[in-house]
Amino acid sequence: MALRHFLDIDQFDTAFLRGILSRARDMKAAGRAGEGQRRVSSDTVLALLFDKPSTRTRVSFDVAMRHLGGQTIVLNSGDMQLGRGETIGDTARVLSRYVDAIMLRTGAHSNLTELAANADIPVINGLTDNSHPCQVMADIQTFEEHRGSVEGCSVAWVGDGNNVANSWIHAAVRFGFELRIACPAELAPGEDILGWAEKQGGSVRVLDDPGAAVSGAHAVVTDVWVSMGDDEPEKRKALLAPYQVNAALMAKAGTDAVFMHCLPAHRGDEVTAEVIDGPQSIVFDEAENRLYAQKAILAWCFGLA
Ligand code: CP
Ligand code: NVA
Repeated sequence: MALRHFLDIDQFDTAFLRGILSRARDMKAAGRAGEGQRRVSSDTVLALLFDKPSTRTRVSFDVAMRHLGGQTIVLNSGDMQLGRGETIGDTARVLSRYVDAIMLRTGAHSNLTELAANADIPVINGLTDNSHPCQVMADIQTFEEHRGSVEGCSVAWVGDGNNVANSWIHAAVRFGFELRIACPAELAPGEDILGWAEKQGGSVRVLDDPGAAVSGAHAVVTDVWVSMGDDEPEKRKALLAPYQVNAALMAKAGTDAVFMHCLPAHRGDEVTAEVIDGPQSIVFDEAENRLYAQKAILAWCFGLA
């Protein structure tokens, strides 16, 4: 069996991704004990490797693995020889001798691909500077719980064209929905990913007017203005100030639109408290569904097909 890495949404076809979401829904319905669900053997170990902080990713992967019947080891790179210059390749080869899969949260995306290229076990992307695929799989699951199939819907991304936005672009193409991205030109997603979406026949547009982006949208999505590892926070905040998601902007989307945010959030910056704590917000359902989307991804990685 080829190694089952889960590195990015664009690497899979729609049927595969739909299969993961369907399994995630079943796992959620089955509850914590996962009655009727196949489990891994109790000595199966997932290493959770962090170069950057995390609350949701750390806890949801850890709990997902316990629900599947396996175990975890949480590793912070600063406590490892990795932090003293041991190569990613050697780290991958060594961890492959001990554990059964690795989830990595890191900065440069090349760290992830290098780990995967040198590991003999599945590697999962737990966020890089380029993408956050597990988050967006959970987000699609969450959207569909509230609004039905995302296919043919319109989603507005308002704010920084960052790693989470990139995974939304991958999802828009694979799940067949329109994505309108409102962001300052300096912080737009890269030409490479926008070019990929266009080549794939996706419906992804970059606009500078947040009002036009959210008009008639089924969901309004945003994220922090300063991601982990970003510099010049004050410059970014000044550029992004016109892209705050507030009640006036949500009113342009309509009362049925859901508000989404991967969290952590900064109330008063990218979103007002009124919106994120208001009736259209589904942010804690997104956080909850990390558990189920990732449980389904782990089940695939471990061959519980
Ligand atoms: N959304 C998300 O990935 O959160 P953490 O940074 O807390 O893991
Ligand atoms: N864009 C954010 C997402 C955090 C989950 C970051 O990379 O910091």
